[in-house]
Amino acid sequence: MARLDVTEVFCGISFPGHLHTQESLQLALKFPFQDTDILIVSYPKSGTTWMQEIVTLIFNKGDPHLSQTVPNWARAPWLEQYYSAAVLEASSITPRVITTHLPHQLLGPALQGSKAKIIYVSRNPKDAMVSFYHFHKMANFLPDAGTFPEFLNRFLEGTLSFGSWFDHIKGWTSQTATMDNLLHITYEEMSLDLHGAIRRVSSFLQCPLVEDEVNACVPHCSFSSMKDNKMVNYTLVTEDIMDHNKGSFMRKGKTGDWKNMFTEEQDQYFESVFKSKMQDCTLEFVWEVQDQEEAHTKEEIPQEDTEK
Ligand code: A3P
Repeated sequence: MARLDVTEVFCGISFPGHLHTQESLQLALKFPFQDTDILIVSYPKSGTTWMQEIVTLIFNKGDPHLSQTVPNWARAPWLEQYYSAAVLEASSITPRVITTHLPHQLLGPALQGSKAKIIYVSRNPKDAMVSFYHFHKMANFLPDAGTFPEFLNRFLEGTLSFGSWFDHIKGWTSQTATMDNLLHITYEEMSLDLHGAIRRVSSFLQCPLVEDEVNACVPHCSFSSMKDNKMVNYTLVTEDIMDHNKGSFMRKGKTGDWKNMFTEEQDQYFESVFKSKMQDCTLEFVWEVQDQEEAHTKEEIPQEDTEK
């Protein structure tokens, strides 16, 4: 299934046709979740792969064997992608770990009444957008990124693949008040305190770890270790699908990288759209703290990676 130039529009949202079909998207909406399932939910480029690694390591008490021998898409397949039914059927990994980028507006009905544990991972939208922009350049199954200002506008309009970041975060996080089976964790929290994040996720998953086991997980889900792990760095994907000469999936792994891309005007525009679209959202975000932290480490960013 190549279909690199195909886009599937489903319920008004564009999905890359390389991985999605109308049928696979329809099936996802009717998926029979089991109460023992773990569902990782995110808008693209928010730390999805990172959470897949953390969850795998938690269930293996820090033993990296599974995470170093089975690709992430085989141990935590994306529900809406065409191969997921076959992968889930063939897999003997328990509990089932499933990933999705679908918005709550679409997947909510299938989860109604389910006790499946949902981990929602969010990231500063400016960083997620910058990461997505770079990813578009290497992923041949995504439409042309266009210029950075064009891409930024499409992100704010919600017309990129996988739809609107704003609808995504509002849809899922609005459920936290009523669903005790949903954990919201941020990329920034994981960056600041990976050890604490692993503890939080393991306790939510009711898979408590002793201190030595948490310590065993940490190095395997560090950025440097994941960058070298073929099972998560997407180097197993052939060049025609992901052009590894144009970039790395594990690109920088930093918070606050948006500052290397945004002009002052773009930042002001982003902030104004953010304010207006998020006015009905009571969530308190902690990105400011991370941005300060990033300011201290900014000089570490390699010169060749900085673009204006
Ligand atoms: P950057 O492009 O900013 O580096 P997703 O898995 O949702 O597609 O997100 C990919 C982003 O998460 C990329 O961001 C990638 O580098 C980052 N990432 C993956 N693993 C990470 C880790 N262990 N630590 C920090 N960032 C990580």
